[in-house]
Amino acid sequence: MELDYHPELRGVTVRRPQLKLLEDIPLPDFFAGNWEVVKNFQAKPDDLLIVTYPKAGSTWMQEIVDLISQNGDVEMCKRAAVYYRVPILEFFMENILPTGTDLLEKMASPRMMKTHLPIQRIPKSFWEQDCKTIVVARNAKDSLVSYFHFYHTCHLMPEPGTWEEFCQIFMEGKVCWGSWYDHVKGWWEAKDKHRILFLFYEDIKENPRREILKVAEFMGKVLEEDVIEKIIQLSSFNIMKDNPMVNYDTLPESVMNQKISRFMRKGEVGDWKNHFTVSQNEDFDEHYARQMGHSSLKFRNVL
Ligand code: A3P
Repeated sequence: MELDYHPELRGVTVRRPQLKLLEDIPLPDFFAGNWEVVKNFQAKPDDLLIVTYPKAGSTWMQEIVDLISQNGDVEMCKRAAVYYRVPILEFFMENILPTGTDLLEKMASPRMMKTHLPIQRIPKSFWEQDCKTIVVARNAKDSLVSYFHFYHTCHLMPEPGTWEEFCQIFMEGKVCWGSWYDHVKGWWEAKDKHRILFLFYEDIKENPRREILKVAEFMGKVLEEDVIEKIIQLSSFNIMKDNPMVNYDTLPESVMNQKISRFMRKGEVGDWKNHFTVSQNEDFDEHYARQMGHSSLKFRNVL
């Protein structure tokens, strides 16, 4: 059953966007209308930025940082949909959904926000203000699979095409937010030059306590044992999938058709094995080695 969380969207038809290059980054064309505002966004020193390539667990990290900042208070973390509590910086769909930069302007400090932008397109004020940044990276094949399903579900993405076509455009970086390879390498290379905590989706899956404690320490928060336990529980896949304030049930079917595929779809490591054929996997590995071979960034479950 739809929640009717956005009465303003009743009866609104959403057209799927085309890709538009905004300073060499392919993005949904409707983002262009606010691009100058995003570029000139004024960060504050106590802003916390979450960065991921799409489908690397950004919503998971949004929920974790909010739970940490609210000391595990479940009701406080249900005060609004996750995209209001931790807005998406570059998000812009005029007259349809709230604009990321508008939400952030109105937000009290300390603010938390997320972006999928590659490092070279982060508004320069974040570096001037020396903001803390949490990067989450997820292995390429699971990111690709998750993205393919998300393209189907989310009408704010272009048409996905067939699985074979999607694999191709992903490898070529012709998907929203561009090349996975450039994104993860760019942030990896920057991690020691700024205040960046670089995490892996696979590590959070393996040991959520260990990774949540890293995040808390990075945020300068000391948590009681019972709060840590609560945060681990509340940010688990099974709890988040039934929480409408994070599972995107707040958006109507015209925007996010979860009958096709749930936003909280599987939440696993290695689901790519259920999608790639043997020859696709070989082609992908060969291409991957060419793109990533010289990088010190290593993922598990890739090759
Ligand atoms: P799958 O499609 O593989 O299930 P993002 O929030 O960046 O769009 O990433 C979405 C992906 O993260 C989805 O992956 C989603 O299921 C997964 N995810 C979200 N919350 C999670 C959690 N608590 N534990 C594990 N995976 C989670």
